[in-house]
Amino acid sequence: MEFLTSTALYNILRGPLVWVAFLVFIGGSIYRIYTLLGMAKKEKVIFPFISLKATLKSLFHWLIPFASRNWRLRPVITVVTFLFHICLVFTPIFLLAHNQLWYESWGITWWTLPESITDIMTLIVIFTCIFFFFRRISAPEVKFVTFASDYILLSISFLPFFTGFLAYHQWVLPHEAMVNLHILFGELMLIAIPFTRLGHMFYFFLTRSWMGSNFALWHTRDW
Ligand code: HEM
Ligand code: HEM
Repeated sequence: MEFLTSTALYNILRGPLVWVAFLVFIGGSIYRIYTLLGMAKKEKVIFPFISLKATLKSLFHWLIPFASRNWRLRPVITVVTFLFHICLVFTPIFLLAHNQLWYESWGITWWTLPESITDIMTLIVIFTCIFFFFRRISAPEVKFVTFASDYILLSISFLPFFTGFLAYHQWVLPHEAMVNLHILFGELMLIAIPFTRLGHMFYFFLTRSWMGSNFALWHTRDW
């Protein structure tokens, strides 16, 4: 416990490891997108069919909850998935505690959301993760395609929010220990994104681009 509450650990987590986490996240993401575009280029049948207009239309269509047929077929999952992702992406960006750190380190600031709102958004991520977990162990059609890696990826998404929430409310562990744990899990998540299936955030726009362009070519409706 002493090590977990130590300033030495805090200094490592807030110093070199922040750099490692952000550089790996940004560099790894650029690499993933670059190699993906390279693979698409090799397949001679992909790029000639891509249309910018159809891509944007398809992306827009799919990003609206319930606009596409697949979202309408599963309303509960749709709501949970949208809530989960919106809160997952926007909470850390507009969180007051994080923006204070950006200001202290780099002197940069941007909008922050009120802490009562980000606290609720954090709870939404926590509960939607619990929902995904129970869906994975109970729904037969999901259980069938669930592997250990799915639980690991779900935990990587869950832990920064869970520990961030406990640190903010100063519950369970001494505050310093929980903040250290939180930063560790946050950095782990950033590093994991480009190298695991969490990188699906880079793929979705390419899949929509490909499918949207094909649907446009055949003059059919997008799903
Ligand atoms: C580079 C690594 C990170 C650092 C240095 C960091 C730092 C912090 C600090 C100092 C707090 C405030 C704790 C308190 O009030 O006592 C916090 C809270 C929080 N952080 Fe992070 N964080 C990092 C990464 C992340 C990531 C990647 C996420 C999620 C994707 C995240 C989500 C949160 C959440 C949800 C809260 C608490 C919000 C609430 O319940 O009010 N953090 N973070
Ligand atoms: C911002 C772009 C992103 C898009 C468009 C996106 C899209 C999706 C979609 C369509 C699903 C399938 C949901 C379903 O079962 O119907 C999904 C699942 C998931 N996403 Fe994302 N995602 C994004 C970013 C992220 C990020 C940054 C993370 C975490 C770091 C993440 C974590 C997850 C997890 C853990 C699941 C699986 C939940 C389960 O166990 O079923 N996503 N995402």
